[in-house]
Amino acid sequence: MQQFDHTELIEIIQQKIDVSAYSIGFINNVITTRMEQLKIETPFMYAAIISHDESEIEKIKANLTNSHSLFFRNRLTFETLRQVYLPVIMTQKKDEDEIRIWSAGCAGGQEPYTLAILMESVINNWKSELKYRIFATDSNFKEIERAVLGIYSKADIVNLTWHEIDTWFTHSAKRYSLVPQLKKNVQFELFDLFDNDCHCPRTSIFGGFDIIMLANVLIYYKEEMQNKLLKRLKSCKTKQGIIITGETEREIFLRNEYVELYPNSCIFR
Ligand SMILES: C[S@@+](CC[C@H](N)C(=O)[O-])C[C@H]1O[C@@H](n2cnc3c(N)ncnc32)[C@H](O)[C@@H]1O
Repeated sequence: MQQFDHTELIEIIQQKIDVSAYSIGFINNVITTRMEQLKIETPFMYAAIISHDESEIEKIKANLTNSHSLFFRNRLTFETLRQVYLPVIMTQKKDEDEIRIWSAGCAGGQEPYTLAILMESVINNWKSELKYRIFATDSNFKEIERAVLGIYSKADIVNLTWHEIDTWFTHSAKRYSLVPQLKKNVQFELFDLFDNDCHCPRTSIFGGFDIIMLANVLIYYKEEMQNKLLKRLKSCKTKQGIIITGETEREIFLRNEYVELYPNSCIFR
């Protein structure tokens, strides 16, 4: 009987969907998870299924898109932004300027709305007249739809304090709906970060971001794709602009000659 290893499985999958940008480790995890779920013991048996069953290919596609997110996913990062870097950015701006922020890979909106909570509270504390705009993009249409809706479950808001929940949501026992004030400066767009025609969200026209947040997205991609994206993002930010990432992605930024501004903050320039 012919034996398959994961390399051959990946080749079969590649004939049906383009997985060439993803890291081999991530694709292997997806395959192993599906085989465990189906209680399939050999790659050979799984190869037979994916060769003939289109619904299994759809399952792989869905598993390739991890959309897990949380409000205030990394408290240290957001507190450092609130206390150290937002004040710096605000003092560099004139009254008529706006602070431009891009949440790249925004999933269901938890990340851009967290940034909106920070902006609202800092602007309020400073009694500032500054404006801000958050461009939030994702390649998954369902996530964009969810984000526009702005309705969340308890699992999404586990990191929020009761004060934050009471201030920014109206809620019943199970549903937490964002107040309109938080949505007014956030705009969503379906956008693939590897789009060859456009490096920045189209709605932003020219980029010019003071803050780009790219967290928990790069880890799924091959090193060459990670490097390509980090090079591109330099042209989307202002000279003093900062890029924020996830805890597991700091090494990728350091390897690409970004400088971490505050130890372990995941905030880079
Ligand atoms: C694990 S979630 C992270 C969400 C959020 N940034 C966070 O840290 O909580 C990854 C998101 O990135 C999106 N994504 C992955 N690859 C992308 C790409 N090439 N272009 C745009 N979005 C992408 C996925 O659809 C998913 O919603």
